[in-house]
Amino acid sequence: MIRPAELIERKRDGEELAADELRELVLGYARDGVPDYQMAAFLMAVYFRGLSSRETFALTDAMIASGETIDLGAALGRKCVDKHSTGGVGDKTSIAVGPVVAACGVPFGKMSGRGLGHTGGTIDKLEAIPGYRVELTTEEFVEQVREIGLALIGQRADLVPADKRLYALRDVTATVDNVSLIAASIMSKKIAGGADAIVLDVKVGDGAFMKTLDDGRALAETMIELGTRAEREVVCLLTDMDQPLGRAVGNALELREALATIRGAGPPDFTELVLSSVAHLLALSDLGIDEAEGRRRAEQAVADGSAVEAYERWIRAQGGDPAEDALPVAPVKTEVLAERGGFVRSLGAIRIGVAALHLGAGRRAKEDEIDHAVGIVCLKKRGDAVEAAEPLAEIHARGKTAGSEAAEQVAAAYELGDEPPRPRSIVLDVVG
Ligand code: URA
Repeated sequence: MIRPAELIERKRDGEELAADELRELVLGYARDGVPDYQMAAFLMAVYFRGLSSRETFALTDAMIASGETIDLGAALGRKCVDKHSTGGVGDKTSIAVGPVVAACGVPFGKMSGRGLGHTGGTIDKLEAIPGYRVELTTEEFVEQVREIGLALIGQRADLVPADKRLYALRDVTATVDNVSLIAASIMSKKIAGGADAIVLDVKVGDGAFMKTLDDGRALAETMIELGTRAEREVVCLLTDMDQPLGRAVGNALELREALATIRGAGPPDFTELVLSSVAHLLALSDLGIDEAEGRRRAEQAVADGSAVEAYERWIRAQGGDPAEDALPVAPVKTEVLAERGGFVRSLGAIRIGVAALHLGAGRRAKEDEIDHAVGIVCLKKRGDAVEAAEPLAEIHARGKTAGSEAAEQVAAAYELGDEPPRPRSIVLDVVG
């Protein structure tokens, strides 16, 4: 029987722990045998000392062993692809990627999370749709992927329960942004969820957990190693999170933007990320095509309307109303005007994320209710030319006071200057 205090001490002193020690600690925590205060101390020791590759593998295996696993490929009799983002501001990518992948004839069954801190969660966004059921049984989930080609549900509690508890603890003990802990958290869920091939969107920048390209690359490489060890193919896109993705931040606003994008009328950065993600997913699928052909098919599915049809089939199958008019609308709309003319030099993602959170688009405490209607639309993005008094952004608020407070925060997120910044593409690098 391990003594948690001894493991904390040895990790604090920089020792490498054995796989069975980590396994007992994680399973003990998942089953209430190890208290939060000891696990929190252990996480902080890991935060400062790091985990070796061997320890990261062992942590991931222990997390998978804490619950059930699904073999989606065996249930469908096909190779299954999945995607996951490390989290950012305005990230509605899965909601647009799913219908395009399904329209191209590749099954897409995904489990997603809720918002954390200033980052939004796909499941919160989907709950803006009246009637949408985020909880399906495993049988319903598999059946819907088989019948409709697409299902998107909340993370099942019986899959990697250790992650659910560990993540909540990390969120409140300043131990989220550690490469080994993020890699084990994401990959344990992807491996337990049964994907054969995975596209990971590793966000880098001001609004992401990884602030630099080097840190993003280290996270990508660790996740690829974990995937390879579990015989899964993994490709990581390192993508820009120095400014919000697309224009919309806030649940119903982001859904409208995802819909516009699969209709071919989305913002350029978001459209590029969706098409690029789909191209990689199709190239990893059992279609036997390369990425260039994947890209061509993704563009075709958007142009011929089959992606929108897939979206509507999917939302109806999950009990929701796919009509755009069914989405909630905030009662107060305020514009943020430019104080001067020039170019947008930067647009701080974290400031926009926090302003949306304060409007009610996210949770400050775990038990908070989300207001699905509120949020921010960034009409101008990095590099755009602006005239004095032209609108930079729109605030969608529940009341006037909340709207004007958010307007001040959003104005402070914009840096205007005389020269445009150097253009930067949304996909910064591809690893794997
Ligand atoms: N997303 C996850 O699922 N886990 C992390 O640790 C960070 C982002």
